[in-house]
Amino acid sequence: MINGDHVMETTRVLTGITTTGTPHLGNFVGAIRPAIAASKRSDVDAYLFLADYHALIKCGDPALVAQSSREIAATWLALGLDPKQANFYRQSDIPEITELCWILTCNAAKGLMNRAHAYKAAVHANEQANEDPDFGITMGLFSYPVLMAADILIFNAHEVPVGRDQIQHVEMARDIAQRFNHNFADIFTLPTAVVDDNVSVLQGLDGRKMSKSYNNTIPLFGSEKQLKKGINKIKTNLLEPGEPKDPEDSTVFQIWCAFADDNERQVMQQAFIDGIAWGEAKKQLFERVNDELAPARQRYDQLIAEPADIEAILQEGAQRLRPKSSELLARVRHAVGLRPYA
Ligand code: TRP
Repeated sequence: MINGDHVMETTRVLTGITTTGTPHLGNFVGAIRPAIAASKRSDVDAYLFLADYHALIKCGDPALVAQSSREIAATWLALGLDPKQANFYRQSDIPEITELCWILTCNAAKGLMNRAHAYKAAVHANEQANEDPDFGITMGLFSYPVLMAADILIFNAHEVPVGRDQIQHVEMARDIAQRFNHNFADIFTLPTAVVDDNVSVLQGLDGRKMSKSYNNTIPLFGSEKQLKKGINKIKTNLLEPGEPKDPEDSTVFQIWCAFADDNERQVMQQAFIDGIAWGEAKKQLFERVNDELAPARQRYDQLIAEPADIEAILQEGAQRLRPKSSELLARVRHAVGLRPYA
């Protein structure tokens, strides 16, 4: 972009979505909604990709691997990700990522991988269970941070928005990049992890953070009936209708705030103080969330019914990017000595 005589640099912002599980309201509020908003900024060159090779580390069921990938792609598109505004692609459609991964693997210190939290946690769990420390640990799990480094470095991302649990991996990518630049050629941009402290962490049915691992989630694109059922299952206290309720102490109110505007927030807050019945508060919450999600749910159902449309979007995404990834990989190959003889 040209602005007067300054060339405005865009920031390359990249993040991956591991394609496992069923997206829930917590994913929407905490990750999907802010990432889509960021992808619409004109100063951002956004890269959002489906980390389907990462899914293989967690899931060995081929049908489930295929299904999750499709559902998660449809979810992002249905919620407004515009493939014209963001680079939207599937990791496995960019073969240069895995080629780069091997070259980086040959330059990444094993000791660095030994320190990865996810690997250490798995070893620790084995030790607690009196198992062999490596029981059930694949090379995929062990080398996971190198694949993630390849994801980030292949497009020379500046910023990588992640949750706290992923900061270490981005720092490892930075380490790996620095080492490569030092040993071979100055090719890689050093990426920075970006953690947004303002992003809301949604509470789940039991009041803890909504998370698949706590089994306390409300699915994003179930039927209307399932959404209603989920909301009705949110834990509340025993206060009767008419008794004042503390909004700050309520998951119903917390989820309400994640969807409501300022005015609606104040109205509900007053209703709590005035003693709204739990049944009524949940009914209103259902209606509010459903209003917000219904159009997206319709798009989601259409996309799932026509997976060829999703496929075409992803193919186009990959096609647009492969000249970049190929160009970078060619430089990397040359730098490490993989060169044509003549
Ligand atoms: N490991 C990330 C997660 O589980 C997903 C991911 C894969 C990723 N590759 C990435 C995130 C590259 C950011 C950049 O959440």
